[in-house]
Amino acid sequence: MAQIDIGKIKIKDPLILAPMAGTTTLAFRSICHEFGSSYQPTELVSARSILYSGIDKSLCYLMIDKKIEGISCIQLFGSDPKDFEFAIGAICEDERLKDVDIIDINMGCPVPKVIKTGAGSALMKDPELAKSIIKASLHVCEQYGKELTVKTRIGFDDDDRYNGKAEDFIRMLSSSGIKLLAVHGRTAKQMYHGQADIETIARFRIAAEEGRIPFIANGDIKDFQSARNMLDKTGADGLMIGRAAQGNPWIFKQLQGVFENKEEDKETVSFEDRKNMIIRELELTAKYKDENIAVREMRPSMMAYIKGCPGAASLKVRICSALTISEVKEVLWET
Ligand SMILES: Cc1cc2nc3c(=O)[nH]c(=O)nc-3n(C[C@H](O)[C@H](O)[C@H](O)COP(=O)(O)O)c2cc1C
Repeated sequence: MAQIDIGKIKIKDPLILAPMAGTTTLAFRSICHEFGSSYQPTELVSARSILYSGIDKSLCYLMIDKKIEGISCIQLFGSDPKDFEFAIGAICEDERLKDVDIIDINMGCPVPKVIKTGAGSALMKDPELAKSIIKASLHVCEQYGKELTVKTRIGFDDDDRYNGKAEDFIRMLSSSGIKLLAVHGRTAKQMYHGQADIETIARFRIAAEEGRIPFIANGDIKDFQSARNMLDKTGADGLMIGRAAQGNPWIFKQLQGVFENKEEDKETVSFEDRKNMIIRELELTAKYKDENIAVREMRPSMMAYIKGCPGAASLKVRICSALTISEVKEVLWET
């Protein structure tokens, strides 16, 4: 059995759901947790927006519930240490969020709107600023007893990846006082194109050794074999799974034995299972927001559940015209 310590938090067999904007809602996170995900960061939330507009404006993204998702983790992005200081303090003082366990800093987002502000993966180009953000965030996290982690990439571009700069960045992060480092095996320039570079993740895992914190590998883990391959080639302490979990929370159960080289859980997921899971996620989502909004917001997720199923193309069109949960049920079970 593998075990990692994120500061004072102990985790066995660390399979972590990757933060994904538009996907990793509280409802989806809780379902993935039920199938074996160790913890699930929220999608990225702007630290500055918390400073300027308060918690309520971002609450739908920040919402956590330890009863259904276990260990809770909020991911923040930004480029000003003061914004992080304020945002983490505000989260820890808020009645609804103060039980959060982990604050994760996004240092990997490649979206131009984010990079333009100096946040996300742009921080890889400015290690001094990244260091100041960590220092300011650590100060508040320690005050409130929260753990601080970072998610990043293997570089901003190929120059970083191959010429030692990203490796230095990883070394700096690993000994900065954060409690876990997750690395996605693509550069920011690549966005989500090409294959995750497992060799570079392996090299960076060694660079991170001096920090003695858990190192989590991420990128293109889609089944038991790719998970095993990532562990074998990188020596990572844990795995983070993103797109392969969309419409497929069962993946966490399928990967359960991967740390002990056990047999893969080959239980098949039927079309009926998928339809039932859509309704479960919808009903959970509708607990937190208006039913019509829940149905509309869950459209991409519903598409992911039915991808590859018989009649998926026409089903997609009909699901998109449903406005209530009972209409979705009608569409799903009339096929
Ligand atoms: C739709 C989408 C949204 C994402 N949003 C975030 C985010 O909010 N924060 C973050 O750190 N990474 C985000 N990512 C990156 C993923 O966490 C992950 O690093 C990436 O998808 C690679 O892992 P995978 O190959 O398992 O999908 C997002 C990825 C996708 C596809």
